[in-house]
Amino acid sequence: MKKIYTLLLAATFVACGSSNEKKDDGFKFNRTKKEETKVVQEKTTTPVDLDNRGIGPIKDLVFDSAIDEAMVKEGSTAFKQKCTACHKAEGKLIGPAMKGIYERRHPAWVMNMLMNPAEMVKEDPIAKALLAEYSNILMINQNLSQEEARAIAEYLRSL
Ligand code: HEC
Repeated sequence: MKKIYTLLLAATFVACGSSNEKKDDGFKFNRTKKEETKVVQEKTTTPVDLDNRGIGPIKDLVFDSAIDEAMVKEGSTAFKQKCTACHKAEGKLIGPAMKGIYERRHPAWVMNMLMNPAEMVKEDPIAKALLAEYSNILMINQNLSQEEARAIAEYLRSL
């Protein structure tokens, strides 16, 4: 008889243990779900329109299929000097993250944003929405030459 009690007791402990584990799992699952929802919301605040080429000196830009490493090197140096005060590759700083930019913007739009930011945030629907999303902080015109802007645009492909 004593043996049976011990067994029952052991069984109860096992049962309690497993129900606790289930609770833990449920909690973790919910937390992950919340974080995912937040990321999606951040991405949808500003419209994505890959046909919009923006407003400025660049009417169109089609990248070669291969990335030009020499241009990337030049662009990387310019980016460090002129952009890292406000931008990182991943995650927001003062401005948006640069990684994956061509999944949401046309290359010509990016070039025009680099060379003509003041007019862009006044006239272009995407740039206007971005300005609102980033608390009206203005993207500074760095007076980039077209060659410099093109090198930075190539560098952004490599992130
Ligand atoms: C003073 C801070 C600042 C500097 C310096 C700056 N930017 Fe920006 N940038 C911003 C902000 C803020 C935005 C969002 C639009 C706005 O509010 O004007 C932005 C927007 C952008 C966008 C559009 C991002 C998107 O998600 O569509 C690109 C591309 C960009 N910047 C690239 C650059 C590059 C390249 C440089 C360097 C030549 C640079 N920026 C320098 C603050 C800055």
